[in-house]
Amino acid sequence: MKPKSFSIQFFLIVTLFPGLVKPDPDPLQDYCIADSTKPQSLSINGAPCLDQSTTLPSHFTTSALSKQGNVANLFGFNVTLTNAANLPGVNTQGLTMARVDLAANGIVPPHSHPRASEVTICLQGSILVGFINTSNFLYTQNLRQGDSFVFPKGLVHFLYNMDPVSPALAVSGLNSQNPGAQMVSLATFATKPATPNAVLEKAFQISGQDMARIRKNLGG
Ligand SMILES: *[C@@H]1O[C@H](CO)[C@@H](O)[C@H](O)[C@H]1NC(C)=O
Ligand SMILES: *[C@@H]1O[C@H](CO)[C@@H](O)[C@H](O)[C@H]1NC(C)=O
Repeated sequence: MKPKSFSIQFFLIVTLFPGLVKPDPDPLQDYCIADSTKPQSLSINGAPCLDQSTTLPSHFTTSALSKQGNVANLFGFNVTLTNAANLPGVNTQGLTMARVDLAANGIVPPHSHPRASEVTICLQGSILVGFINTSNFLYTQNLRQGDSFVFPKGLVHFLYNMDPVSPALAVSGLNSQNPGAQMVSLATFATKPATPNAVLEKAFQISGQDMARIRKNLGG
């Protein structure tokens, strides 16, 4: 990575501050198996529940994370999530699991989850992980197979497979049914509609040329 683009990326990281964050509300019943057959006509927190008597063991299981995601993209990563559609029993439980596939030298770029803390376990390869606290201090660790790491709620973090040859695999647990994910680079340089040039030029202290290059690189 060129020093200039690194300094721009670092600036991107440190200029985004996380918002106020709250946990998911507690469920009012043992479980609420998501009923994805009914179209949702009003907006509620989560999906409507199936009749309790129709609950099956299979509602609590999924193979969604058994398959490798396709990592042939700009950053070389793929995140596969559990949700109320592929794991109906997770509805209202305040949980999400994520399978993170990283190509050789692949990265999950700096991003934050506004509604969840995350704990990740490295299952294969080695992964450089890190998060930035609200004083812009960077905490990093190099995870090897079997090591876990916590990303505190709402803070900007990344996962990078530094190995130029071998892929890496991690699985994460997040304490929200809908953690949300906001990637720092895309939330600035690839918004729709585009964030006004003047805003980004001023915020990142870059020229119009710099910005055009970054926008193009990110497909913005
Ligand atoms: C992640 O992998 C799935 C399954 O292979 C694929 O459909 C999806 O497009 C991939 N996402 C990205 C961002 O590459
Ligand atoms: C961030 O980490 C630095 C270094 O440990 C520490 O001095 C600072 O107080 C931390 N900031 C917050 C908001 O926790």
